[in-house]
Amino acid sequence: MRPQPPYQQGFDTHRNYVGSEDKYDLLAATQFAALVGLGLRDTHSLLDLGCGSLRGGRLCIPYLEPERYFGIEPNRWLVEDGLAQNLGQDVLQVKRPQFAYNDDFDLGVFGRTFDYILAQSIFSHAAACQIERCFASARRVMGPTSLLAGTYFRGQASYTGDAWVYPGCVEYRPEDLAAMAVAAGLAFKPYLHFHPNGQSWFVLYDDQPFDAAALRDEPGRFAGNFDGSAVAYPGVRLLWGWAVDNAGRLDEIEIVVIDRRGRLAAKTTTRIHRQDVVDALDRDGCDRPGWRVSIPTALFEPGPQPLRTYALDPDAKCACYIGAVEIDVPAAAS
Ligand SMILES: C[S@@+](CC[C@H](N)C(=O)[O-])C[C@H]1O[C@@H](n2cnc3c(N)ncnc32)[C@H](O)[C@@H]1O
Repeated sequence: MRPQPPYQQGFDTHRNYVGSEDKYDLLAATQFAALVGLGLRDTHSLLDLGCGSLRGGRLCIPYLEPERYFGIEPNRWLVEDGLAQNLGQDVLQVKRPQFAYNDDFDLGVFGRTFDYILAQSIFSHAAACQIERCFASARRVMGPTSLLAGTYFRGQASYTGDAWVYPGCVEYRPEDLAAMAVAAGLAFKPYLHFHPNGQSWFVLYDDQPFDAAALRDEPGRFAGNFDGSAVAYPGVRLLWGWAVDNAGRLDEIEIVVIDRRGRLAAKTTTRIHRQDVVDALDRDGCDRPGWRVSIPTALFEPGPQPLRTYALDPDAKCACYIGAVEIDVPAAAS
């Protein structure tokens, strides 16, 4: 349903419904840059909560590989107009984004987990009971390395009403949002990133240590290492390396990167290649077939951060240490 009076004047287009028209482009760029600064790659999945007229979606949908973008939005007309005006109908075939139209903060509606959840200018209008519901629902669709990136207006006192406020805005104290995150089983961290309207960014993530105790150490089972680390993007380190299964049992090895607090900083898989192929590549000075992961530094304290890598055989419940690297996290986590 398009908005009815009193909003008809100046509040009825896909652009002005979600904010000031003259910053529509900047808010798109800000959201996209915030996600890329948290490590978003085109292979990741993204849930855009309150995706509106695809202000962020107009950049994220083309960037991501097909079937990686998911939007939830109560106002169907906004998505339809945003698609028509920003992207065109072909994107539905080429990128196959999926949408759900509801306002119940149920992030499980697609029946899957996500690498990233974006909630841009949602908590700046939401009541605490809605935020609590949203965080609890987010927790259920987040894995150990998933991130929720959200924005809010930081204030001296938190909004105590129980209804969504729109187009007006509400404020929260960061400690109140952090407490809601903890109640949902998530950690809250401010994320220093620009916002054209003066909102503050934060990330929610799973802070639980990786359960290494569930895995039997099997020295020598795998061979492998870091081949390198580099700045992939401001705020994102790219790590890569290789691994081979000395027992020759797996087609694919699971690789996990653990930080100094024991949290799972990244997880990926690497395909196994025949040892004779690996030997030939080594002999010829070629790169070994390997793995690569992006590590967002926003979750780390500034300073040197040691990371350890393990290769896993999840079925045999065994792990093997394959190498360590230290990344330097600059102050201001940029
Ligand atoms: C300020 S706009 C932000 C839109 C979009 N995130 C962006 O940055 O362009 C707020 C959006 O939240 C949507 N919204 C309202 N109630 C919602 C709810 N319960 N769950 C999810 N989104 C909601 C509105 O329809 C609107 O599109």
